[in-house]
Amino acid sequence: MEDLLNRQIEREGYSSILYLSMASWAENMGYAGIADWLYNQAEEEKMHMLKIIKYVNERNGKAIIPSFDKPPAEFEDLKIMFDHVLEHEQYITSSINEIVAETVKENDYATHNWLQWFVSEQVEEESSVQAIIDKLNLVGDHNLYMFDRDIMSMREEGEGE
Ligand SMILES: [Fe+2]
Ligand SMILES: [Fe+2]
Repeated sequence: MEDLLNRQIEREGYSSILYLSMASWAENMGYAGIADWLYNQAEEEKMHMLKIIKYVNERNGKAIIPSFDKPPAEFEDLKIMFDHVLEHEQYITSSINEIVAETVKENDYATHNWLQWFVSEQVEEESSVQAIIDKLNLVGDHNLYMFDRDIMSMREEGEGE
């Protein structure tokens, strides 16, 4: 279990720097709203990583701070970038699910229970990224200015639910 949680520490941390890299790219492209959204997302992923670090240590395990692969620095366009975000979140969901499955195998009900927060979080994240992709498809290439302006309000609406 400790190894699996340490693996997840690395994956949440990589998520954070991946979104940071996307944020920086978007900022350079002039998409201030999208950059903001991604900087926020990077911060959330860092909190996910911290949450696991603290849990492992609290349970008398040893959380290991890993090095991270260098994330891509260039993205072809916004649509491709957000497809990448969705794919990455789906990968994180299956990674969380693997840990949940292992808690059942090992009768680790405390960790099973603790992981439910991540299970719900992944449902939310996948659906908010899907909503962004749907909206991007709807606006097409001509209204990206409006999309950039509106994206942060989509986040606020999502959080109000
Ligand atoms: Fe996460
Ligand atoms: Fe995430």
